[in-house]
Amino acid sequence: MSLVQWINFPPLGDDRGALVVLEAEKTIPFPVKRVYYLFGTKEGVARGFHAHKKLWQVAVCVTGKCRMVLDDGKTKEVVWLDKPTKGIALPPMIWHEMHDFSPDCVLLVLASEHYDENDYVRNYDDFLKSVK
Ligand code: TYD
Repeated sequence: MSLVQWINFPPLGDDRGALVVLEAEKTIPFPVKRVYYLFGTKEGVARGFHAHKKLWQVAVCVTGKCRMVLDDGKTKEVVWLDKPTKGIALPPMIWHEMHDFSPDCVLLVLASEHYDENDYVRNYDDFLKSVK
């Protein structure tokens, strides 16, 4: 089974422009406790490089694009987040990295829990040990 779970957000626009709605427990498959966004990522900088023990997240580039690597310890998949109508689900224990941010990229992330550093697995060898 693919690691990649796209969530398509229906555009509700009209001739004035586009509108996308992200609703907790509807479009977003969990109660949202936290929203954050990455922007102004410098050229050549990659981010992420961690997995979460319990956290669920959905990520979407509302402007611009970036390349995401997903890894469950057995397989790696590479996808482009490049549309404001296309989100990706990040379940627990998926190692993820974001590369090749366009200068205009705004990566919006909705998370199921408040920030908790103890939920992070930041060491790749520890990640591999815990998914085996
Ligand atoms: P980090 O998760 O390391 O960024 P990324 O993995 O996307 O490159 O977060 C960078 C810093 O921001 C780190 O010091 C933790 C802090 N942070 C919070 O305080 N709250 C949050 O919700 C997030 C996502 C990060």
